[in-house]
Order: sequence, then structure tokens, then C-alpha cells
Amino acid sequence: MAINKNNQLKALHCCYTAGTGGGKSVAVQYAEMMPKSPCLAIFDPYGDYVYQTGSKLDIGFAGKRVYHYSSRKAFAIAFFDAWGTKRPFRIAYKPAKPSRTEMLWFCELMWHAADGTRRLDVVIEEVAKWCDTTGKEQSALGECLTGGRKFGLVIHTVFQRSTEVPKTVLSQSPYKIIGIQEAKADAKRMAEECSIEIEQIAALEPLTYIKKLPGWGNVEQLDLRNVFN
Ligand SMILES: Nc1ncnc2c1ncn2[C@@H]1O[C@H](COP(=O)(O)OP(=O)(O)O)[C@@H](O)[C@H]1O
Ligand SMILES: [Mg+2]
Repeated sequence: MAINKNNQLKALHCCYTAGTGGGKSVAVQYAEMMPKSPCLAIFDPYGDYVYQTGSKLDIGFAGKRVYHYSSRKAFAIAFFDAWGTKRPFRIAYKPAKPSRTEMLWFCELMWHAADGTRRLDVVIEEVAKWCDTTGKEQSALGECLTGGRKFGLVIHTVFQRSTEVPKTVLSQSPYKIIGIQEAKADAKRMAEECSIEIEQIAALEPLTYIKKLPGWGNVEQLDLRNVFN
């Protein structure tokens, strides 16, 4: 059960949306929504953050090692060990058979660990795949998004199409990073969410984004094309 409720904590949840290859995972690592030394747990069903020893590419999480586990038991033990040290860590759950049930199990664990005196960053990749509504998400994921801020949770949700995610994901995330959109319906949805013109979204290129901050029409341009140079 989440402990140490602190109503004064601000919601820092962020969603990241772009077509495939648009730079969602790059933005999660480099859009500066993540602390430099995070306590970070990732639901990483496709291994986007797998660390490769000796690779020249900047893989892992922003070049740092991520520890992956594919069984619930091994992940839960490693996660609580890491969280218990009170030191930064990057850890991922990559279930053998990703499913909504696995995603919700992961969210329940995060809710259980949440502590209003400490920030815990949580990434959920491809969130649309694990959701079956575009309405209210009434589950452990919904609970993390709606109640999590008071307990130090910062939820980073990643998805390709905004028209396929629960509205809870969009409405509870005051920060939004929008990359290239493949469908007009998704671009329109995000333009409305950010109170900007759809043309601004249509003009985006891979690894360029519009970053929505809290507040009406409060947006910035973000360019991560040079991040690997
Ligand atoms: N480690 C890396 N080194 C160099 N380029 C990368 C690396 N990771 C991603 N990229 C570039 O960024 C693009 C977007 O990648 P990514 O963020 O994984 O897309 P998405 O998550 O939206 O599918 C890739 O097509 C690739 O060109
Ligand atoms: Mg990705």
C-alpha cells in the first residue's frame, strides 16, 4: 500500500506519443522529464532499454545500465532490493508474454511501493496495447495516474496513437511530448489537448517534438536530432 501521502506534491506525469521510429523512447530518456539519477522502473515488453555491454550505441537508459527481469518473482525481488537501498537504480520488467495482466501486475507493485517522501519514476511502454478502453481507466494503472502524485509516483506513458489510449492517460499527464503523428485523427486529438494548431504537429520530423507543459497553450519546441552526435 502506498504510504506517506503528501497532497502538496505536484503531478509530474508525462506522456510521449509518436509514430513508430518517431523517437518516443529517445524522448523518455532525453527530454529532461527524468531525474539525472532516477529511481526508475520500466515496463519494457519489447526490450527498448536493454543494455548491451560493449556496444558503441548509447543503449540502456541514457547510456546507463538497466537490469531486466522476465519473471515476476525475480523482478519483484530485485525491485524491492533496489528501492530499499534508497539509492538510484534503473530496472525493467520484460515479461515473457506481455499482456494487460502483466502490465497491471507491474502497476500494482509500483502502487504498493509508492512513498510520498520519495520520487519513483515509472515508464510504461506501448500503453495502448495493454488498455481496452479509451474512456476511464479503472485499474491499478488508473490509480497510479490519478492518486500516484501524492505518493511520489511519476508515470511516463508511451504510445503511438492518442486515439487508442484511455482518456485518463491524457487528462492526468500535465506534461506531453508529441512527436510525428501517423494519422490525422491522432494529430487532431493532440492539437486539441495542447490548444495548438494541427499544422504545428504536421510540421514535425522524427526526433523533433512539441512539449506541452502545465497551463493553457503552454508549449515548447524540442529537438533531439543531435542527441547521439
Ligand atoms: N541508441 C541510439 N543511437 C543512435 N540513434 C538512435 C538510438 N536510439 C534511437 N535512435 C534513433 O532514434 C530514432 C527513434 O528511435 P525510438 O525513440 O526508439 O523510436 P520509437 O520509440 O518512437 O519507436 C531511431 O529511428 C534511430 O534513428
Ligand atoms: Mg520505442
